[in-house]
Amino acid sequence: MNRDDFPILNSGIIYFDNGATTLKPKCVVDKMIDYYTKYTSNIHRGDYDNAMKTNEAYDEVRELVRDLINAKNISEIVYTSGTTESLNLVAFGFFKKYLKKDDEVLINKAEHASNILPWLVLQKEIGIKVKYIPLDENRELTIENIKKTITDKTKVISVAHISNVIGDIRDIEQIGKICKEKNIYFVVDAAQSISHYKIDVEKANIDFLAFSAHKMMGPTGVGILYGKKELLDKTDPLKYGGGMNQNFESNGEYVLKTAPIKFEAGTPPIAEVIGLGEAIKYIKKIGVDKIHKYELELKEYMVEELSKIPNIILYNKNSKSGILAFNVEGVFSQDTSVYLNHYNIAIRAGNHCAKVLKDDLDIKNTCRVSLCLYNTKEEIDVLIKALKNSKDIFKVVI
Ligand code: ALA
Repeated sequence: MNRDDFPILNSGIIYFDNGATTLKPKCVVDKMIDYYTKYTSNIHRGDYDNAMKTNEAYDEVRELVRDLINAKNISEIVYTSGTTESLNLVAFGFFKKYLKKDDEVLINKAEHASNILPWLVLQKEIGIKVKYIPLDENRELTIENIKKTITDKTKVISVAHISNVIGDIRDIEQIGKICKEKNIYFVVDAAQSISHYKIDVEKANIDFLAFSAHKMMGPTGVGILYGKKELLDKTDPLKYGGGMNQNFESNGEYVLKTAPIKFEAGTPPIAEVIGLGEAIKYIKKIGVDKIHKYELELKEYMVEELSKIPNIILYNKNSKSGILAFNVEGVFSQDTSVYLNHYNIAIRAGNHCAKVLKDDLDIKNTCRVSLCLYNTKEEIDVLIKALKNSKDIFKVVI
């Protein structure tokens, strides 16, 4: 759907690497060009017309984000450089102070590096215990396994809403309920879900939520950290500088601004924030539910057709997002990816930054198709045809 909004598709590319980054609709790019060609200025510093216009365009995006995820207040919305910075801010700005030796943080082996490494660093630095909630036989995260892994020492559960390789949609409302009952902090990485699935931070009792603009048809370089107000108030910034301080003196005294501004030192990615706002308007106009339904239909069609090809191994047939991990039997995933490039098909091959998933997947590398609203059945047919001819892979690759 909406293919005309994405000029890059005119090149003929079949773009199935949306988990890495999505394409951008023209309206997002135009909005950013407008800023660069008509009213460029810094924010919150100037008293002239263009500066006022920039302030307005930049500040209104916080409300768009708040509304998208149903946060209570715009002060709970922090602009960051992306999901990775957001999750680092959560781990090092808040939990490093709050957690004590032997406190348990529950994650799982299907998480992205950004939701594992910060916790592993805290494990080394302050002696917390990182525990992996076991995945089920489909490599999915279940409520039963979460419940079984919780102990009296569990202080945090941190999960991706949709995992970036298996594509299973975690029941965040149910997990949030368990966290509330047991007084456990709940952190959600929404990088893969924000433009594909509805999120309500209030309903799911989420303490911290992280996502990136570039995976939701917005620009690179900007992302969001949502945090409950009372938690952001207790979180320390990781960056200090202009814009985030109230005052400082040569005797060493300083006063910082309140959240979210205290986390936004220096000149922020202004054009990118404005572009993010346009991406949110674009997604809302179509409707996240409609996007998810369409992508799931495409995935199910792809699974049905790929299942008919004998030498294709599918790793996550049943998961309910537009992500499919597969391999061609006996072929290194990157060779398959290079082969598909020959047909102008872009997929991702490798470990997808989920480096400990290999323990459960029995294989290090996979090919991944990740869908977005502009993909079509016809594009999937081209993929199927290419994979049916996979005996040609080495003719093409070598
Ligand atoms: N996290 C991104 C992906 O899964 C880069 O491809």
